[in-house]
Amino acid sequence: MSDRFAGRVACVTGAAGGLGRATAAMLAREGARLILFDRDAEGLAETAALCPGAVTVAGDAASAADVARAAATARAELGPVELLAVAAGIVGPARIAIDVEEADFDRVFAVNVKGSWLAAKYFIPHMREIGRGAVVLFSSTAGLVGSPRLSVYSASKGAVTLLTRSLARNHAAENIRVNCVCPGTIDTAMAYASISQAGDAAAQAEAEAFQKAQHPMNRFGTADEVAAAVAYLLSDAAGFTTGVALPVDGGRVA
Ligand SMILES: NC(=O)c1ccc[n+]([C@@H]2O[C@H](COP(=O)([O-])OP(=O)(O)OC[C@H]3O[C@@H](n4cnc5c(N)ncnc54)[C@H](O)[C@@H]3O)[C@@H](O)[C@H]2O)c1
Repeated sequence: MSDRFAGRVACVTGAAGGLGRATAAMLAREGARLILFDRDAEGLAETAALCPGAVTVAGDAASAADVARAAATARAELGPVELLAVAAGIVGPARIAIDVEEADFDRVFAVNVKGSWLAAKYFIPHMREIGRGAVVLFSSTAGLVGSPRLSVYSASKGAVTLLTRSLARNHAAENIRVNCVCPGTIDTAMAYASISQAGDAAAQAEAEAFQKAQHPMNRFGTADEVAAAVAYLLSDAAGFTTGVALPVDGGRVA
């Protein structure tokens, strides 16, 4: 096992769920000391069991007060955060854009876009203090090309992709790198939440087969395959890499 994150303090948001949990567990296995943030306190406790010494904070990624509390807790319990992975996100309604309700639009943007911005806003100052850092935001292949079904989600992830690039340019000279991953469909609760909106069992099976066929590898990715890409972008091996939107998608946008 590598110890490439030995002694480093890392925060993972969305840590109670699929990709956040896999990322947190991988960073912990490789030596990181973790602060885990999510709105789901029970799921956080399960992830903490995989990450010895982890500190958990339950809260809403779209709330400035909650994210600020997470940053303050990290500082008090573990010290300034050097590595940040922002996995908290929601998929929203599977509808064409003009059929989406205003409240759903606002919530998808609040969690996915404002949440990514708040995490950067409250944790990058820690990195400035220690003179180095790395951030990975979670975009999507739907943040690179339009999605007919997940239209508002796609718009929100497009915003995350360009937030990544702006942040990368803002902080490059401060030795703080900012990249994002753009997963295709990954075998987590979120993927099935979207498929379950397709209708009855037959319609869902058809949606699943259709989704798989969108990926030239003709399968969904695994959470560990995404976590490995996040870990690479957070690691010193990616020392000259910033502002990148890295597809992890079995060739979907190739
Ligand atoms: N699974 C996929 O196919 C896929 C594909 C592309 C991108 N992504 C992105 O990867 C990230 C992780 O997705 P996942 O598949 O692990 O999803 P998931 O639903 O399994 O997990 C998401 C986690 O985020 C948390 N969360 C959601 N809203 C929150 C909020 N307001 N405050 C705090 N926590 C909140 C949930 O409680 C959950 O633990 C998301 O940003 C998602 O958009 C996922």
